[in-house]
Amino acid sequence: MNSTNEPNDFRKSVVYQIYPKSFRDSDGDGFGDLKGVTEKLDYIKALGADYIWLTPFFVSPQHDNGYDVADYYNVDPRYGTMQDVEHLIAEADARGIGLMFDMVFNHVSTDHEWFRKAMAGDPYYKDFFFFRKGKGEGIPPTNWESKFGGSAWQYVPEFDEYYLHLYDPTQVDLNWDNENVRKEIRKIVRFWMDKGVKGFRFDVINVISKAAFEDDHEGDGRRFYTDGPKVHEYLRELNETTFGTDARIVTVGEMSSTSMEQCYRYAGRTTGELSMVFSFHHLKVDFAGNDKWVIVPPDFAKLKHVIFDWQTNMAAHDAWNAVFWCNHDQPRVVSRFGDDGRYWKQSAKMLATIVHCLRGTPYVYQGEEIGMTNTDFTGIDQFRDVESLNYYRILQDKGLSAQDALRIVQIHSRDNARTPMQWDGTRYAGFMDEAGCGGDAQPWIGVNANHTKVNVDAELADPDSILHYYRDLIALRKRLDVIAYGDVEPLAVEHPSVFAYRRTYEGHELVVAANFYGRQCTWQDCPDLTGFSRVLGNYPESGEHDVRKGMELRPYEAGVWYR
Ligand code: GLC
Repeated sequence: MNSTNEPNDFRKSVVYQIYPKSFRDSDGDGFGDLKGVTEKLDYIKALGADYIWLTPFFVSPQHDNGYDVADYYNVDPRYGTMQDVEHLIAEADARGIGLMFDMVFNHVSTDHEWFRKAMAGDPYYKDFFFFRKGKGEGIPPTNWESKFGGSAWQYVPEFDEYYLHLYDPTQVDLNWDNENVRKEIRKIVRFWMDKGVKGFRFDVINVISKAAFEDDHEGDGRRFYTDGPKVHEYLRELNETTFGTDARIVTVGEMSSTSMEQCYRYAGRTTGELSMVFSFHHLKVDFAGNDKWVIVPPDFAKLKHVIFDWQTNMAAHDAWNAVFWCNHDQPRVVSRFGDDGRYWKQSAKMLATIVHCLRGTPYVYQGEEIGMTNTDFTGIDQFRDVESLNYYRILQDKGLSAQDALRIVQIHSRDNARTPMQWDGTRYAGFMDEAGCGGDAQPWIGVNANHTKVNVDAELADPDSILHYYRDLIALRKRLDVIAYGDVEPLAVEHPSVFAYRRTYEGHELVVAANFYGRQCTWQDCPDLTGFSRVLGNYPESGEHDVRKGMELRPYEAGVWYR
């Protein structure tokens, strides 16, 4: 077997992300669970995914849907039991699918034993966190803002001190500078490795090393803890003492507001940190700076610039990216950058084409492969996410009307990604069985009414569906080495509506061209495709690419040519 073709070659792999709470509820309590994931393994296998990234199912009060972990060694009863996890790992393994678990190590829940002991005054555990004196009566140690709104410090009257929480007040930041914290973290990683886990996703891992507790007069404080002074040291240590001892394990770090230079190290082939990184700059093209709570149209020129910049520079530094549009924190891409109305199918396929042929490991977020759209929620009471609910209030505090605040939340809310997976056209979309729910159990969050049209069953029956297109794209990556290993060359860089690039590897070439908009366009200086064959596309082949006339691209058309 060619060494590059081994099953753990993450460059040829595709990861499917599951948010279990919203995936499949096997016992009818309205809350998705691990047995529900196991039920759907054949579906994921048929899609062609090699790994499943499972978001946290550990014991948690669920203030941030499991990203507030109270016990890393046990399963939250709402998700199932340890036996269910073991069964899931074994069943996935039998299908050649590896499980990647989501390790939330920047913070723990205030319900975690370590924090409870700290709050009881135990100095050993107080040092697991950042307790600091305020700057004066009612003035926190620094002016940093929490990522979910409000101050990043919570006052504790018993100690007359504050503790740091970069996220919700129930998510307390861990002090990684304390060797005992790092030891505990290593134990947790090894525990799950011993259970047969094949990979890890590390939540907001680049904010673990805090530089200095100083007021930020330029921003919200992030420059004092993002890519902090010891982050690389801590990651190398974690690598050497845990997952780095097993070459089969793949890792991905979620990098919040990071820089490319730092990512050369986080995800360098030889730097001894992680296999790859998630960066988010390409998803801030519809923000105002770092502020996502505004309505601005996506900046296409910026999107291309950011993606190409990362593609070429990460390659030049022998570092690896995860490539993706969607996850549980992002609105649905077909609603965001495509057209979830008239050109729903074409635009979903076009967006998929762009990502899946790039250099990097593609991640598919549950429901993306069937073109799930943003929610149809009409009132704030339908939203569940702590961040959305906070900002709905904050926006009104800033003077916006309730209606305008709601509009912004509808567009940017993380709940857009969290509505139940749409398996079929029944009442609860097959997320929950209608018959099995008895009592008055209902999905924990509303099902999108479009599930009668947008669902797995319907797409399995339609050979031209988005789902079948995703299967084809994933199969293409397996078949053509140029996609996994090739170099990238940006094309049509200045074109106002075309997204195009070339990949090259050992004498083979792949050209990808996509019309990002719903108006027909011409790509005048497209490359000569004589001798190429079109290996995939979202429209019937038109043959319309004469080098002299340029390439005509229909609304949201995308095509892949290979030689
Ligand atoms: C990451 C997770 C997000 C969570 C946050 C805090 O960004 O993806 O869902 O809220 O970290 O843990």
